[in-house]
Amino acid sequence: MTPVETHRPSPLGLGTEGLVFGCDYNPEQWSKDVWREDVRLMREAGVNLVAVNIFGWSHIEPRQGDFRFDDLDEIVGLLHENGIGVNLGTGTSSPPPWLTTLHPEILPQVGDGTTRWPGGRQAWCPSSPVFRDYAMALVRETAARYGSHPAVKLWHVSNELGCHNALCYCDVSATAFRVWLQRRYENIEALNDAWGTAFWSQHYAEWAEILPPRDTLSFINPSQQLDFFRFSSDELLAYYTAEAEIIRSTSDIPVTTNFMVTAHIKTQDYWRWAPEMDVVANDHYLDHRLSVPHRELSFSADATRGLAGGKPWLLMEHSTSAVNWQPRNHAKAPGEMMRNSLTHVARGADGVCFFQWRASVKGTEKFHSALLPHSGTDTRVWREVVELGSLMDRLGELAGSVVHSDIALVFSWEAWWATDQEAHPSSELHYLEQVHQTYEALLAIGATVDIVAPGADLSGYRLVVVPCLYLVSDADAQVITDFVAGGGHAVISFFSGIVDEHDTVRSGSYPGAFRSVAGISAEEFYPVDGDESIALSDGGSAGLWTELLHLEGATTTSFYLDGPLMGVPAVTRHGFGQGVARYLATRLDAGSLAEELRHAASEAGATTLTPVAEGIEIVRRSGPQHDYVFVINHTNEPVAHAITGYDLVTEADLAVDGVVAAGGVQIVRQSRETS
Ligand code: GAL
Repeated sequence: MTPVETHRPSPLGLGTEGLVFGCDYNPEQWSKDVWREDVRLMREAGVNLVAVNIFGWSHIEPRQGDFRFDDLDEIVGLLHENGIGVNLGTGTSSPPPWLTTLHPEILPQVGDGTTRWPGGRQAWCPSSPVFRDYAMALVRETAARYGSHPAVKLWHVSNELGCHNALCYCDVSATAFRVWLQRRYENIEALNDAWGTAFWSQHYAEWAEILPPRDTLSFINPSQQLDFFRFSSDELLAYYTAEAEIIRSTSDIPVTTNFMVTAHIKTQDYWRWAPEMDVVANDHYLDHRLSVPHRELSFSADATRGLAGGKPWLLMEHSTSAVNWQPRNHAKAPGEMMRNSLTHVARGADGVCFFQWRASVKGTEKFHSALLPHSGTDTRVWREVVELGSLMDRLGELAGSVVHSDIALVFSWEAWWATDQEAHPSSELHYLEQVHQTYEALLAIGATVDIVAPGADLSGYRLVVVPCLYLVSDADAQVITDFVAGGGHAVISFFSGIVDEHDTVRSGSYPGAFRSVAGISAEEFYPVDGDESIALSDGGSAGLWTELLHLEGATTTSFYLDGPLMGVPAVTRHGFGQGVARYLATRLDAGSLAEELRHAASEAGATTLTPVAEGIEIVRRSGPQHDYVFVINHTNEPVAHAITGYDLVTEADLAVDGVVAAGGVQIVRQSRETS
């Protein structure tokens, strides 16, 4: 038997071994005896990376230019003495009151021109040169002081850039927007053309006439809106790189910031951000407003792995139990925190961190869960934290192992921005919802999915799935067409390929960019009302959206049995070049969508792991010596599951006729020969 390496060097580049288990710590809230107690308990829990100084500005620079690092020195030193690594915040995420008092012009404005005041957090305009000067001065001081401190393993720039302040409509932003537009279009007529300003008397004679898309009486120009999203994402990215450049000039420690790949924040195009990160890190909170919260968690984890280019990544924040910012904040069920954490690990995370260490007793987040709850250590949360900490230590051998998939799903922030705009055929079509439903159907057939950017190299895949890619450039659409022509298989769903990168409709026939590869044309859209369901010839049902489709080489898989498009094809299949493209002109019910994807995957020869039962998630990570099969039971019942190998969770060999416990997780080590 091959000996097992217990702690492989972390590929995150932090100079550590094994997996990361950590948290945000806001010691500014506590007295120094509490710090000592906290560090003792951190060791008990197995915490090995702690983020500090995330919101530290008003502590380390209480007055302009008066830098006081004594407390930060002490906490960094204390963590270091206790063998705990530091994930050091640059402290710039929220300006201190002296700065907003001295320079109220840094405050952001929303679309109606009103100011958003201090008193919360992140009250700064992303384009403000004044804010930037002060923030960079702080970064310079902090980087110089801790740039080679042995405790510091990672730099944490600002915090969740754009969580609240992504879109600012003030005059400073307006000027910056114009500069960005001039760089993009070079001459004003190119912008007029791209934005379609010939319509509704919007033609611009001078750059100075252009404004951010502030609140209007009617619908806003969609291309202006789209470019404003792009500009706003680029502004914060430029802000990140400005901080990172200062840090890198004095420190060799890796630099990152925490992404928010999540359903409720869409303002950053992380495909553009990811190459600037030394380590890709994500924050994820379960959103109980969604129909299947844990599915969205899995999608977010896979998307983060995609952003990391398939390499391991870091879960920078999630919660041990309830958050405090949803309408009803559900405490996690026993075992749920473990399941959530391990789902991230299954999908490529080499570390699991939380917000925050000790639950606040004052301020906005006092009812947000923490590793150490208000009720102390004699609690379920604490016991589960300690259990997870010890498991994360045992999982050290997984460091650097990777997830392989031969199925790609194309996901685009730009398409999200464009699809969800106003004045479209149906206000009920939401891009992310369609992406999630498609992803969910792929999970249901046991697929492991790589989330890829439009235009990504598809050569390693057998099947590419393209849900509702309304906006796509010619070049990026061509990559999909070429993939199919060369023998790949594609599933493309309704309202795809419609507009180019300027949101200009491709005339001729829908689905524009995908018409020839799909071998169909759509003459008109027929959105479906609310919960209405239309029967299909294969026994399935359609809803939300239908299209008046004509065959141009494709064959019909199913057609509508009633409704205005009775007899019209709903799902088609087209042999194109060496490959096959399927087109779904409607939103299929979940079962039919899964069936369609199952056919596509099997015809493409794509690998799917046999799904055990509804609610069971299976993912494999592969290391140099072993495979690790994660079996995650999201149900409240034990599920019979025949798998052999050593379970790293229970530290026992699995019986052939074993079960995975209700709500439980198995991480089954299998040597390559037997898997
Ligand atoms: C994140 C943030 C943390 C904390 C957390 C609460 O957005 O980075 O500071 O506020 O949410 O869920």
